[in-house]
Amino acid sequence: MTDYLEKFAAQRDAGERISVFAESLLAEQSPELRNLEKKALEEGVPIIRPQTRGLIQCLLELLAPRRILEIGTAVGYSALVMYTYAPADCEIITIERDEDRAAEARLNFDRFGAERITLLEGDAAQILPEVTGTFDLIFMDAAKGQYIRFLPEVIRLLKEGGVLLSDNVLKEGEILESKFSVTRRNRTIHKRMREYLAAVSEDRRLRTILLETGDGAALSVRRRGMADNTEAGDLRQ
Ligand SMILES: C[S@@+](CC[C@H](N)C(=O)[O-])C[C@H]1O[C@@H](n2cnc3c(N)ncnc32)[C@H](O)[C@@H]1O
Repeated sequence: MTDYLEKFAAQRDAGERISVFAESLLAEQSPELRNLEKKALEEGVPIIRPQTRGLIQCLLELLAPRRILEIGTAVGYSALVMYTYAPADCEIITIERDEDRAAEARLNFDRFGAERITLLEGDAAQILPEVTGTFDLIFMDAAKGQYIRFLPEVIRLLKEGGVLLSDNVLKEGEILESKFSVTRRNRTIHKRMREYLAAVSEDRRLRTILLETGDGAALSVRRRGMADNTEAGDLRQ
């Protein structure tokens, strides 16, 4: 047991060192974004980690998206990262259910003059079925226990060849632990997140890779030529 714990601690330390090193190599963001990030962190608002920002910036270059959907705006930091680095004509729709955060996000969007961002206020479970059209990039960053609930609508809205990026899927490595070692309060989230990771991995319409980036990200690409009525849970080919 001691061996196992020592090995686990050593791996975690190595992981943290790699993370610090990787962050040190990240390209700088604009001063406006840096200020917004700093303020959000000071106020305890949970926002994407620097490496997740780097991953999003790479995806924006790769996809050159025309339409982006974000679930979980908070105060608008990640939406503004996407707004800053996406092509100039890209439309961004972002959903937030917390009134105060939505109000602050609106102020931040105004400050950046980000007219191409539309904030939809309310519960994504209610809003998603009303969203029309398809998206090149969908960023899932809301309550972790709800991802599984949003998935059918998210797949409906994801364009063929489009990317679904789901953040915080490893929960500091907690997702690897047995459900019995997770506190009672977190057990439901743990179970639902495991279900979610199984669902995005097994759904034949998606090709998914789990990344250790930030707090863990699942990157799923909507496969071309896969019928919409393909059952989730079918074995992948
Ligand atoms: C991690 S924060 C989002 C951070 C933001 N994407 C960023 O990096 O700047 C998650 C946000 O999702 C919102 N949220 C959680 N569940 C939601 C739901 N069902 N519908 C809409 N928003 C939700 C929370 O209020 C919270 O502000």
